[in-house]
Amino acid sequence: MAKVLIIGAGGVGHVVTHKCAQVPEVFSEIVLASRTEEKCKRIAAQLQRPIKTAQIDADDVKQTTALIEREKPAIVINVALPYQDLAIMDACLATGVHYVDTANYEPIDTPKFEYSWQWAYQERFRKRGIMALLGSGFDPGATNVYTAYLAKHHFDTIEELDIIDCNAGDHGQPFATNFNPEINIREITAPGHYWENGTWQTTDPLSVSRLYDFPEGIGPKKIFLLYHEELESIVKNFTTLRRARFWMTFSENYLTHLRVLGNVGMTSIKPIIYQGQEIVPLQFLKALLPDPSSLGPLTKGRTCIGCLVRGHKDGKEKLAFVYNICDHEACYREVGAQAISYTTGVPAMIGAMLMLTGKWQGAGVFNMEEFDPDPFMEAMTRHGLPWSVITPIAPMA
Ligand SMILES: NC(=O)c1ccc[n+]([C@@H]2O[C@H](COP(=O)([O-])OP(=O)(O)OC[C@H]3O[C@@H](n4cnc5c(N)ncnc54)[C@H](OP(=O)(O)O)[C@@H]3O)[C@@H](O)[C@H]2O)c1
Repeated sequence: MAKVLIIGAGGVGHVVTHKCAQVPEVFSEIVLASRTEEKCKRIAAQLQRPIKTAQIDADDVKQTTALIEREKPAIVINVALPYQDLAIMDACLATGVHYVDTANYEPIDTPKFEYSWQWAYQERFRKRGIMALLGSGFDPGATNVYTAYLAKHHFDTIEELDIIDCNAGDHGQPFATNFNPEINIREITAPGHYWENGTWQTTDPLSVSRLYDFPEGIGPKKIFLLYHEELESIVKNFTTLRRARFWMTFSENYLTHLRVLGNVGMTSIKPIIYQGQEIVPLQFLKALLPDPSSLGPLTKGRTCIGCLVRGHKDGKEKLAFVYNICDHEACYREVGAQAISYTTGVPAMIGAMLMLTGKWQGAGVFNMEEFDPDPFMEAMTRHGLPWSVITPIAPMA
């Protein structure tokens, strides 16, 4: 039915390509392009159906524009790095092609992410008659839709939101990140922010924690407050929210490594001169750490990511937790990737599918919670990420 161009052949690109290949009635042709074409070819060789591959530097708008003009896709799924978002959006504008990504723009030399840069494309996308769907991964992505789903079906008003991301899996490595190490460490070492009573509150990195009892046998885990990009759009689109926070689990071992690396300067993005050559310590660290896509065969255990919402229904206070549990080994059996790449790649495919089938339509730049959550929730169950809603006993402090 439609041709898709996927940009980025890392852990997430691997899953997006596999999942698009599973839905030929929507994605009738697939082109996978990345900086290192060899990685695209390796993914292509694992599939049951032929796809095209290409080499591209997506920082270069002209190269992406030329590739789009040559291949004529109906949609571009950007699963390269956040640094490429604006350049790829520019190429989509130049060619009149729809756009999907999973992470908001971040300038390479400033550890700061926010939607302002991409929201600024609103008028240009609207006038061009094309759609950009921002943050169609799990968090952001499924978490935005989970919030919209609870608001639509379980509450009259939602007042408190806690997005909770638990990776209870183990890859057996002394220290590794589950997605791009550079992006991951930039996010975790940044100050925490959360929304309360109409303003952003700031906390020192990883300084606020709680114990949360996860369902289905995962049990109690320590969670840490972080800033995460979906909070920015969710508080804008759900104005009754009095408080909105994001939490993630980390093991003591992970935090100890991170602390030591931070103390010796290895997580810094400030360039230094080493033996006459300029290097960025965090980029050098990335080169030393295991490639997240190599963790697939090693990772055991489950993830649980969900949204805990407190609000009112029929005049009564209510609490609900909507979540998915994903098994690392089951993901590896299905597509040869661990659950973090899987939980990101499946929603990216679903976002593109809903756009191509006309279920989510619009001209302009959109966040996930702006659309009807029902077709997305239905597709999540059908494509490998089933979810449940439960009523927890107590709200989070
Ligand atoms: N929303 C969510 O839930 C969520 C969760 C996890 C990750 N993410 C996002 O998903 C994206 C991909 O993450 P990942 O873990 O798959 O990262 P990754 O394994 O590092 O893969 C990134 C891929 O992009 C390619 N790339 C980088 N710069 C490029 C350029 N200028 N032109 C073309 N290709 C380029 C890389 O090429 P090389 O192979 O040559 O390096 C690599 O193949 C990131 O933006 C990340 O923030 C979102």
